[in-house]
Amino acid sequence: MAIDRITGGRPLFGTVEVQGAKNSVLPILAATVLARGECVLRRCPDLSDVRASAAILRQLGAKVHREGDTLTVDASCLTGSEVSDQLMREMRSSVIFLGGILARQGEAVMSFPGGCELGPRPIDLHLKALRALGAYIQEEGGALVCSAPALTGCEITLALPSVGATENIMLAATAAKGTTLIVGAAREPEIIDLQNFLNAMGAQVRGAGSSVIAIEGGRPLHGVEYTVMPDRIVAATWMCAAAAAGGDVELCGVDYRQLSTVSAALTEAGCTVTSTAERVRIQSAGHLGGARMVRTAPYPGFPTDAQAPVMAALAKGCGVTVFVENMFEARYRHVDELVRMGADIRVEGRVAVVTGVPRLSGAKLMCTDLRGGAALLVAALSADGESILEGLHHLDRGYERPEETLRALGAQVERIEES
Ligand code: UD1
Repeated sequence: MAIDRITGGRPLFGTVEVQGAKNSVLPILAATVLARGECVLRRCPDLSDVRASAAILRQLGAKVHREGDTLTVDASCLTGSEVSDQLMREMRSSVIFLGGILARQGEAVMSFPGGCELGPRPIDLHLKALRALGAYIQEEGGALVCSAPALTGCEITLALPSVGATENIMLAATAAKGTTLIVGAAREPEIIDLQNFLNAMGAQVRGAGSSVIAIEGGRPLHGVEYTVMPDRIVAATWMCAAAAAGGDVELCGVDYRQLSTVSAALTEAGCTVTSTAERVRIQSAGHLGGARMVRTAPYPGFPTDAQAPVMAALAKGCGVTVFVENMFEARYRHVDELVRMGADIRVEGRVAVVTGVPRLSGAKLMCTDLRGGAALLVAALSADGESILEGLHHLDRGYERPEETLRALGAQVERIEES
């Protein structure tokens, strides 16, 4: 078991090169099953979720090889169409493989992703859409047994702009005859990255970034070299760390427009955020006010994934912020841990009221989920004294060597492997 030992109270200074985006690379890895050739993915972060995707690809018969931050996937010869229960449990978002495997193999078997740390995570929209394209899907004792001898393009209206459902449809539709229209599609930047990747492979996808996406299916897809977009949530997390601990940090390679809602909240709280095309700089005195209201919403609204780190940054300060979590039911699990550090946070259903306190105290903390863990890291950096962070496997799903990044900025953080 590993723990992080963090001594808080040191301001952060310096420049960070932001890692590739987890939420972009996972659907891109699922899309590599469509290529009859080698895909070379650059800026591919080494995360446990990426390793789980690589394990799924190997299970399907693909060859996967990592060298530095480049991952090579050769799915020319796929032999399987089944994802094991163990890998489905390890990473619930492995359901994004469903559309790709169906498109390539005409059949797929995987277990149903049940509830998870964020609350129930239904996939009804994924299944309804794949059925509309012509897939037969049986739900048997927790397993999904799917076959699709032929897929045919059609118009699919999503009741909610689900990111995963949009991605699953995009992948399946590349093999469908004719045109598929996704109406009410998710507009997240990671969907644009997936469109760019598919088009580089020879697909014809238009409209990503808007709420209507059109896919002309049936084209042969080939291998490609591609650079994954930078991770806007990781960037937001480092912004929160600098906001909370104080200092002056510049993030490189990020698109400031993707960070505008997070920047607005931190600016409201008293930070100075300046940006050029591919750089965002945050300066903070470490004494924050409140940000009034933070309401999570689908992109371009405030990202649910940044809610916990921003809450941690605003827990120490002198203002009040009202958070409204509109995306997931169980996304305040970090609150109890922040309260143990001395934070004043009251939760009622979807609403959390954060009243800044003059100081947080270091404590023994447990990561509850990926972004909740990031929030605890942020809080520990601004707290007085030492914190011990456990449950790092959550953090490792989305952050590549976070201790190294923070140490390079002047933080006192070390990972200790305990036997
Ligand atoms: C993706 C991101 C996750 C982020 C989330 C919302 C990845 C790997 N993960 O998750 O980090 O927090 O988007 O921005 O990209 N829903 C249904 N039925 C469905 C599908 C979704 O009711 O069939 C609901 C969900 O319960 C949730 C909302 O729609 O309340 C949004 O979920 P969705 O956009 O699908 O999130 P994910 O793709 O799972």
